[in-house]
Amino acid sequence: MRYTPKIGRREFLVMTGAGGLALLAGCGSQSDGGTSSGNGTRTTIGPGNPAVAKADKARGGTGKVTSFDLAAAATTLAIGSREVKTWAYGGLVPGKELRVRQGDTLEVNLRNQLPEDTTIHWHGLAIRNDMDGVPDLTQPVIKPDGSFTYRFVVPDAGTYWFHPHMGLQLDRGLYAPLIVEDKADPGDFDVDQVVVLDDWLDGIDGKTPEKTYKSLTSMSGMGNMGGGGGMGDMGGGSMGSGSMPMSMAQSDLLGGDAGDVTYPLHLINGRPPEDRQTIKVAAGGRARLRLINAGSDTAYRVALGGHRLTVTHADGYAVEPVEVDAILIGMGERYDVTVSPKSGAWPLVALAEGKDAVAAAIVRTSDASQTSAPPADVQPKELDGRLLSYTDLSAVEADRLPVAKADVDQKVKLTGSMMPYSWAFDGKAFDKHPPLDIQQGQRVRVSFENTTSMWHPIHLHGHTFRLGTNATGPRKDTVNVLPKQTVVIEFDADNPGQWMAHCHNTYHLEQGMAMLVSYVG
Ligand code: C2O
Ligand code: CU
Repeated sequence: MRYTPKIGRREFLVMTGAGGLALLAGCGSQSDGGTSSGNGTRTTIGPGNPAVAKADKARGGTGKVTSFDLAAAATTLAIGSREVKTWAYGGLVPGKELRVRQGDTLEVNLRNQLPEDTTIHWHGLAIRNDMDGVPDLTQPVIKPDGSFTYRFVVPDAGTYWFHPHMGLQLDRGLYAPLIVEDKADPGDFDVDQVVVLDDWLDGIDGKTPEKTYKSLTSMSGMGNMGGGGGMGDMGGGSMGSGSMPMSMAQSDLLGGDAGDVTYPLHLINGRPPEDRQTIKVAAGGRARLRLINAGSDTAYRVALGGHRLTVTHADGYAVEPVEVDAILIGMGERYDVTVSPKSGAWPLVALAEGKDAVAAAIVRTSDASQTSAPPADVQPKELDGRLLSYTDLSAVEADRLPVAKADVDQKVKLTGSMMPYSWAFDGKAFDKHPPLDIQQGQRVRVSFENTTSMWHPIHLHGHTFRLGTNATGPRKDTVNVLPKQTVVIEFDADNPGQWMAHCHNTYHLEQGMAMLVSYVG
């Protein structure tokens, strides 16, 4: 989805037309610093506003710069036994994990070798607004053959990731983990392993995200199929590539519809079950697994056969440790878990919730190299055991957001349906939705009421909110809102700029299920 600002567009184009990348990064430029409405009552704090640089400066940082070069390009790669054409960072899926230390400056020089425009969004990081990677809102698009250098202080330790903020590119192979090491607490693990989950269709039997989106939206054009039979009446014949993309996925845990899209493959770290990764852990050793859901339309229920998992972090932030059998993780969410595996070879399974398919890996201890691996499609009983719920999570004391009176208290309805295929906030797509105006220093509360029959993972840029109204609520940046549920988030407006809040279902975002959280002067 492209952002089409109602105001500020002209100023922005003037700036970019003038070769204004330097202006964007600089402070003191008026040209992209925000806009005033005609009557002067609303002045937005744009990415080039001095307040943005000032807030960034206040973060301090070590001054140490860690640099990476990254190319986004079309590539052919092996997924299990299949050769697949897709788009990826550096020819790898997931892209190479970037590691930096908290407080350091991350510099990533991105070359766009894709046939279309792109950007990178640093999911979950509360960084300076002009580096947030939302096209036309926080930066001009990066054209094919163009490049852009992202450079920002990385404020918080934890498990993060990055992906384009452009159309359906995330449902290709364009995603990678970003791990920010805690300078105070290096952790004491034999293994520190990222576990990236993804639903995959790109390049399989001619599928692409674009064709899938077209099929989903052309369903709506077909209107009521008659007979009251709903989606079940629709044959696959008229759909793209002869298969029906629309999923009938149902899940009690997700309160109804589990997803819109049927995926041929589900991957852990880019690999399908028949080609599972083995995560090796020293006998008696302790492993940290960093779960990231990089999928576009699939929640995963994750468990390790024979073990319970101790959850230590949610969306990068520490929580009071809690032991569970299984974890439900929506798109964009992350959980860090620790486990000391018993001697053996154990199935690490991510059940595609409501979709009757799995992604898989093996956790094997060093003294069990002869133990035969569990079957690739095994579904350990832990999947049906004690499931992590949001109410199990409480922020550690140092990360608590104290209770305070909300200066802004906004209700937002999640709206839409499969038929017609249409998703939005308050019935209005992004470019029609009024921005939520906030001011620096305010306490902001937003209540998301899900009026639809499907769950939505709601993500806020540039801030880590507190879930709920209690001081102990976990800090997160993405939260699953189930059908008929209302979820309240609160945050302090401490990072000036223009920020998106949106559903992290790639296809829902493309529909405009998003709104602007706009700092105003
Ligand atoms: Cu990970 Cu705006 O998204
Ligand atoms: Cu959604």
